[in-house]
Amino acid sequence: SLIMKGVRHLSDSGITMLPDSYVLPAHDRPGGLLVANSRVKLPVIDLATLHDPSRRAAALETLDAACRSYGFFQVVNHGVDGDVIAGMLDVARRFFELPLAERARYMSSDVRAAVRYGTSFNQAKDAVLCWRDFLKLVCHEPLQEAWPQEPAELREVASTYAAASHGLFMEIMEAALQALHLGGGNGGILEELAVGSSHMMTINCYPACPQPELTLGMPPHSDYGLFSLVLQDHVEGLQVMHDARWLTVDPIPGSFVVNVGDHLEIYSNGRYKSVLHRVRVNSTRPRISVASFHSLPAERVVGPAPELLVAGGEPRRYMDTDFATFLAYLASADGKDKTFLHSRM
Ligand code: SIN
Ligand code: FE2
Repeated sequence: SLIMKGVRHLSDSGITMLPDSYVLPAHDRPGGLLVANSRVKLPVIDLATLHDPSRRAAALETLDAACRSYGFFQVVNHGVDGDVIAGMLDVARRFFELPLAERARYMSSDVRAAVRYGTSFNQAKDAVLCWRDFLKLVCHEPLQEAWPQEPAELREVASTYAAASHGLFMEIMEAALQALHLGGGNGGILEELAVGSSHMMTINCYPACPQPELTLGMPPHSDYGLFSLVLQDHVEGLQVMHDARWLTVDPIPGSFVVNVGDHLEIYSNGRYKSVLHRVRVNSTRPRISVASFHSLPAERVVGPAPELLVAGGEPRRYMDTDFATFLAYLASADGKDKTFLHSRM
């Protein structure tokens, strides 16, 4: 079926009209009035300033403001080697150029599989399909043995990239906790993360689409973890909800897009926001992105930071949640509605 073959296959077959299964109802289409003023840009943070004692306080303030008001920012001067970034994008592109039969070996309906090739957003549930194929890799070290062996460099390149992404995440997480005055010290969340964390990486392929105004690469959603780090190629497509409008993220070569996930919104008791975002596609230029989702281990129950809930402190705004609860919710309700996370106390 169209579903199993995915959109790269459709695009390569030279279709000139979008199949009906990808056509969104008029009110969900990407055009319309909600496109932001293009002069509004995401905050860009120079991470080198975090390492400069004379500039760290100012950098933390910028980070704090970005996480509160956008839930997104971009980082430059982050210290990740340019060759590692270029190598990752290159091997990602080449994976999707493999024959379909080679890619299809990794198809799985098990959302916990160490490696999973698929299409659309949530294939089991999407009423309308999305113009996206993906390869999802669980980055936990022993599971890397299940990763594809084609292209030949994939394992080594993706493994090096995963380690760099995790290092960058830890740096940003430490800064965010400092900005929030949370989670420091012995037994804090940072120490927990240093011992064990979860890291999933999704490589996304959005081929050229014959009627991009009728569909999306990814529907509006927010991410689950603490922070997501996204590497995108030179083609724009990612849009972020800001002031009730969609803002298009500029592709800055060699930068990462960083966004707050649900876990950090919960842990910060709502100070930082896990913001809706989506992906648009276009008719001429295929786009590749690599998203890394960093968080606490799946079995860890996450609630607001204990130091916020002390007697005389603020009211709890979120209930405790774990991965099983989240999966049950994904299988049931509308994916845009995360009100289940809010405390009903
Ligand atoms: C996402 O992971 O939500 C979007 C990634 C992209 O920019 O393609
Ligand atoms: Fe996302």
